[in-house]
Amino acid sequence: MRKVAHYAVLGLALSAGVAWSGVALAQQIVVKFSHVVAPDTPKGKAADKFKELGEKYTNGKVKIEVYPNSQLYKDKEELEALQLGSVQLLAPSLAKFGPLGAREFEAFDIPYIFPDKAALQKVVNGPVGKSLLSKLDSKGIAGLAYWDNGFKIMTSNKPMKTPDDMLGMKLRIQSSKVLEAQMKALGAVPQVMAFSEVYQALQTGVVDGTENTPSNTYTQKVHEVQAHGTITNHGYIGYAVIANKKFWDGLPADVRAGLDKAMAEATVYANDIAQKENDDAMEAMKKSGKIKFHTPTDAERAQWMKALKPVQQEMASRVGKDLIEQINKETGAK
Ligand code: LMR
Repeated sequence: MRKVAHYAVLGLALSAGVAWSGVALAQQIVVKFSHVVAPDTPKGKAADKFKELGEKYTNGKVKIEVYPNSQLYKDKEELEALQLGSVQLLAPSLAKFGPLGAREFEAFDIPYIFPDKAALQKVVNGPVGKSLLSKLDSKGIAGLAYWDNGFKIMTSNKPMKTPDDMLGMKLRIQSSKVLEAQMKALGAVPQVMAFSEVYQALQTGVVDGTENTPSNTYTQKVHEVQAHGTITNHGYIGYAVIANKKFWDGLPADVRAGLDKAMAEATVYANDIAQKENDDAMEAMKKSGKIKFHTPTDAERAQWMKALKPVQQEMASRVGKDLIEQINKETGAK
């Protein structure tokens, strides 16, 4: 008899517990954060950090689901999904905002426009960075932060010491007109392709080579299907973290405060780890013995710069002459 009563109480407690958590779950706000790279990259790790902090600072009111590796959407589709509200957060590379009509972001793709990371940080944290993010408002997008990745290397199956070696090569690029002009300036043939398709395109010879950061090159196993790399550091890859504006602006004030705090801290984290992630990836690729890297001599570097510098002027009408001048002023370039 006593035993039956005990089970009855336990049963009540359990069903009450289930009912309670059911209510809690029903009220939980779900934030889907989609991205195209591997979890083990600067962006992948920062997205996971944002999940950890965002859920903590909102005391369980928010569940953040991170979908890496183009699991949900590829490059172009994820931007459409954000505008439709099928996902709430993305961090596309700055080279992917042109198709949205935000051509100014392609200024970040101009070869050699940032002499180093310090100059880059000055620009994104200054008036240029802020004004670019606010331009997204009219597209139903809230620009939240910039996350760093790094400078790019070139890879292919033949040595690339100078721009002459690029002649006629088919090279995968992100969807940026500046990158298209960059590859043409080298005499190469640019081919826009989603990030998720790059490995297979290189493996099957659909394209001859590509450019990316060491971290992306390594985590996509590009070094396993490319025999040569050149450490050109000719351009930059970084991200704008963006949200569906209606969703973001409509969050309850306390939830929004918690997510803003989480985003600020995840941004510091992202920018802290990016360089090391890239350095480690470079080391790992060198150790693998599968790819041979060339570091240009001063004279070779001068040739890369000479071939690529005209892209800045050529693209001024697309990304904005004033914007380029402002960036050059902030970085201290003449
Ligand atoms: C690429 O598409 O090459 C990369 O920019 C992907 C990324 O998000 O880093």
